[in-house]
Amino acid sequence: MALSRLFRTKSVEQILADSDHPDHRLKKTLTAWDLTMLGIGAIIGTGIFVLIGTAILGDVNRPGAGPGIILSFVLSGITCALAALCYAEFSTMIPAAGSAYTYSYATLGEFLAWLTGWNLILEYGVACVVVAIGWSGYFNNILKTIGIELPLWATQGPHAGGVANFPAAIIVLLVTIILVIGVKESAQATGLIVAVKLAAILLFLAVGLSSVEPANWTPFMPYGFEGVGAAAAIVFFAYIGFDAVSTTAEEARNPQRDLPIGIIASLAVCTVLYVAVAAVLTGMVPYTKIDIHAPVAEAMRMAGFKWGAAIVAAGALAGITSVLVVMMIGQIRIFFAMSRDRLLGPWIAKVHPRFGTPHRATVLTGISIAFMAALVPIGEAADMTNIGTLFAFTLVCGGVIVLRRTRPELHRPFRVPFMPVIPILGMAACLGLMTFLPFVTWIRFVVWTIVGITVYFGYSIKHSRLENQAGVRQ
Ligand code: ALA
Repeated sequence: MALSRLFRTKSVEQILADSDHPDHRLKKTLTAWDLTMLGIGAIIGTGIFVLIGTAILGDVNRPGAGPGIILSFVLSGITCALAALCYAEFSTMIPAAGSAYTYSYATLGEFLAWLTGWNLILEYGVACVVVAIGWSGYFNNILKTIGIELPLWATQGPHAGGVANFPAAIIVLLVTIILVIGVKESAQATGLIVAVKLAAILLFLAVGLSSVEPANWTPFMPYGFEGVGAAAAIVFFAYIGFDAVSTTAEEARNPQRDLPIGIIASLAVCTVLYVAVAAVLTGMVPYTKIDIHAPVAEAMRMAGFKWGAAIVAAGALAGITSVLVVMMIGQIRIFFAMSRDRLLGPWIAKVHPRFGTPHRATVLTGISIAFMAALVPIGEAADMTNIGTLFAFTLVCGGVIVLRRTRPELHRPFRVPFMPVIPILGMAACLGLMTFLPFVTWIRFVVWTIVGITVYFGYSIKHSRLENQAGVRQ
């Protein structure tokens, strides 16, 4: 009996009915183009503009990739492509908000759905910590350009000899206030910011290419494949966000056709750009001289393009800000979906009487992220995000295989090709990348999982809507 509660699933029909309820039905307006832009808007940010530095150089926990970072981006890109195909099948079959959490609830049962949701808190919530710290790196870089240098105590956490990273915390609190007051995500604003950050990357590529010195590419893999693998597990962060497209499934005009296009096209565009940036960056500057706070802009400055560096830094700052907004909204939506199913307290999803926004979920999310962004090192937060996301991707890949067996009759407008090879390769690739993450990350991940399991058994299992509903499905 207890065991069957863990594996009870929410039927696909029920999920679709929940999302089609007139009280919370969303307008279906997004086209394939909008979805691709939205994906790129969520993807390009701290990963390519900041973490690439740590991945090239390594840190106390791991060796760096050196110029082999080019390969690291290819490896991570392939892993994401495999997972993206699985996301595409799910999101067209179950075009409802909630993403991987909702898919797991339909396939793997409540307990694994809970664990997926718990890991999505790492993917979205902790990712915001990383993104905010990255934002601060570029913010300080721009201030430096105009002659202002903030003191170390105000820009670094205690781990680096400072007090707190104040710019990182302040940007999170500002975004929180904006989200509480309720600013709509507008397709035009997304399009504009995507254009700005693509322009920053293309400018970097165009200008940087002229100062590429092929000698900088040797040694190509100073720490061998171990360095390349470790870097792939870091820059995986740069790809996170393509799955955000699937969270907007309810708002797509023609989800069956456009969601796979949006997910796969945005991932493909970013992969090509990332590999190009990695090649130009490591070709411009000897890899040992790469900066870790604002590597892309600093490389341009080192190569003598002072104004180009400032423009790239400004584009990066705008792009990273948009990722922060999207990721915070993502985290709030996940809290929403989980509390709609009563796995989290319903008070979380209460809507503000005047602003009409989920102010509690927003403020709770914002304050926690601001606090961590002020104090935590970027690399460690990125590792936590990545391990949680890779685990969630593994479950999504597994879920596709399970649902093909348990519900073969469901209409699948997009079908993962070469079943079950692609999802199996996807799971292997995700688990493979996870093995390159530092031991200390694994320990933290185990602790995080134990806390999650405790909350599930202490609260969620008893309050679940499925528990308190007639006709519970096993
Ligand atoms: N992929 C997003 C970034 O790199 C999360 O900022």
